[in-house]
Amino acid sequence: MGIHRHSVVACLVILLSCAGQAQAQALSRPEALLKKMTLDEKLGQLVQRAGGRSKALNSKLDDAELERVRAGQVGSYLHVAGAEPLARLQKVAVEGSRLGIPLLFAMDVVHGYRTIFPVPLAMAATWAPESEERAARVAADEATSAGLHWTFAPMIDIARDPRWGRIVEGAGEDPYLGARMAVAQVNGFQGGNLLRPGSLMATAKHFGAYGAAIGGRDYNSADLSERTLQEVYLPPFYAAARAGAGSFMAAFNDIAGVPTTANKDLLRGLLRERWGWQGLLVSDWGAIGELINHGVAADRAAAATLALDASVDMDMVGGVFADDLKDAVSKDPARLKQLDEAVLRILRVKDQLGLFDNPMLYADKDREARELLSPEHRQAARAVARQSIVLLKNDNKLLPLRAPDIRTLAVIGQLADDGLSALGSWRAQGKAEEVITVLGGIRSALPKGVGITYVPGADPRSDDLSGIPAAVKAARRADVTVLVIGEDYDLSGESRSRSSLELPASQLELAKQVLAAGKRVVVVLANGRPLAIPWLAENAPAILETWMLGVETGHAVADVLFGDYSPAGRLPAAFPRTTGAVPFNYSANPTGRPADPDLKKDTVRYHDLPITPQFSFGFGLSYSEFRYSELAQSAQSVDPGGRVDISITVENTGGVASDEVVQLYVRDPVASVARPVLELRGFKRIELASGARKRVTFSLTPEQFAFWSPRGQWLIEAGRIDFWVGASSTDLRANGSFEITKTHTGTAPAAALPTRVIVSSN
Ligand code: NOJ
Repeated sequence: MGIHRHSVVACLVILLSCAGQAQAQALSRPEALLKKMTLDEKLGQLVQRAGGRSKALNSKLDDAELERVRAGQVGSYLHVAGAEPLARLQKVAVEGSRLGIPLLFAMDVVHGYRTIFPVPLAMAATWAPESEERAARVAADEATSAGLHWTFAPMIDIARDPRWGRIVEGAGEDPYLGARMAVAQVNGFQGGNLLRPGSLMATAKHFGAYGAAIGGRDYNSADLSERTLQEVYLPPFYAAARAGAGSFMAAFNDIAGVPTTANKDLLRGLLRERWGWQGLLVSDWGAIGELINHGVAADRAAAATLALDASVDMDMVGGVFADDLKDAVSKDPARLKQLDEAVLRILRVKDQLGLFDNPMLYADKDREARELLSPEHRQAARAVARQSIVLLKNDNKLLPLRAPDIRTLAVIGQLADDGLSALGSWRAQGKAEEVITVLGGIRSALPKGVGITYVPGADPRSDDLSGIPAAVKAARRADVTVLVIGEDYDLSGESRSRSSLELPASQLELAKQVLAAGKRVVVVLANGRPLAIPWLAENAPAILETWMLGVETGHAVADVLFGDYSPAGRLPAAFPRTTGAVPFNYSANPTGRPADPDLKKDTVRYHDLPITPQFSFGFGLSYSEFRYSELAQSAQSVDPGGRVDISITVENTGGVASDEVVQLYVRDPVASVARPVLELRGFKRIELASGARKRVTFSLTPEQFAFWSPRGQWLIEAGRIDFWVGASSTDLRANGSFEITKTHTGTAPAAALPTRVIVSSN
């Protein structure tokens, strides 16, 4: 009996220990680690500190800082980089801290690390997601070789008010274009799999309506309808979440009084629970503490609790989670559970990046030396830069310039030789001296013997006009003048909102005088936002929009000026006629008094200006011409789950090899809520040799017509859908319609869903 009892006990012990073992085995590495962590170590993982002072990378990594790492008080650093310094820092974390948890190294690698590509707004003007993806891949290859794991990009905020300085960082005004560019960048940065060497974890930012800041004033409140939020501002984020973005950043601003950093419905409710996204959610810089300024938290402890409750995992720089959360989590088991979840999400990302297996994976000095600004990367930057250029005006085919006909050429404008401005906002490790400026590019493209004069004329930063007479003189003497004007790097970007969209005064004055004096004057615009340029639009014979094109600016501009490449960029946001005409969006709802082209009274209009923009969304000229013909559709009606194929033939009839961007727009003309007069639902940039034809087929599904119903669900209503295929939102060449047969509900924001496009030779 005794033996029997013993054996039962022994069996039980074995069973329990087996169960225990099974449980231990079932724990993932992050879960097992979490079990060993003290409260302080958990809080430490939530902390992201700045490793450098503004531009001086790694400058704060002194002994006191290393001590914090050893004590397990830091989960991540930003403003750090360099294979060697980061390997040293990582070694301190994995060898010097109790649990050896590796650090995450982050930076704003937005449009390149050392090889700087065009600013994101310019890359959106390519209408070529594959180019965005390539740019992000190059950036990731370079940044990861320098020890970085994580970038705060892509910025995928829809921006419909160009006064907002951060419009330069995104893809412009349209959710469909924005979603495609978002996915392309996530794929490019992450390479499809975080474990892949060279994968840089992407951050979809700034979730959810940062770009809707009232008046375009950065950090300002947004106040918008639930429908606009769901249909316009959120689709790029939904698409980025589906594409597997490892991280999201909450926006600084509030939506209708709820600061996003504390917006539990949006972060925990929509992003995590409804969309099922499980990644690392980081606050923006100091944003948790700013909940006090927002007026929703009385003190830092309350701010910390609100952010944790909303499911923010990591506190960028503010130190609020580190210093002010302990009390709440020690007293409240529900909060402790939330803390554990946040820590787990951070550890999971470290695991997914392979850092537990090899914390030094990313610091590779040899690769760093090979990758940074390699000739291949420069080549890629040049290819994307020339794709980004938009030809806005070209009277009498002034462009392209024919180099053999030119004996003297004047290049005018301070921006023509300003490498820093060419890099634009967020330049990571880009260096002004490595930029081929417009002047440099023109010099290298022109045959020897052509006389070039360069005169800065006027600086966008200053009102000094004393350099203009010399510019006028040079323009008068030259056969051709290339006038480079616009905004410098410091007029767009974070906290760089402008109340005026006009050219800086000195630039406009320079333009007026040079255009009056010169013979053939080509205006090259360099800027980080849509501008209001009514005088130029009227008076300049040729205008090239070149944005800020990065390290290969000059080569790309010269390629287009001299006809080695036909421009095919298209505007990702409209250019207004005047500042007072913003916000304007092609995809507006119809009104009871639709706009009348004859400017009749009592229709939606301005008294003093046409309601239309100066240059519309999707617009851009070419050195060639294209004919659209043979529109066909595969069906007249479509059931839930079905699709309609819309095909069109595009022929290059203009005698110059060139890309064309074929655009598909749709409208739901009668629905239970008013639907926009036009919505982009497909596009494709195609290459066409002179005389060549291609057939482009877009496949649409009913889900792509879902709208956010008053009941808070995606609804697809039965009825007619109209569609147009064309060369811009105001140059629609062919149209048709089909019926959706049944009303049913959808699952996703319509603009987030990609339209399949097939191109065949014809
Ligand atoms: C603040 C900006 O809003 C955000 O976009 C950026 O990633 C962080 N600073 C870090 O530099």
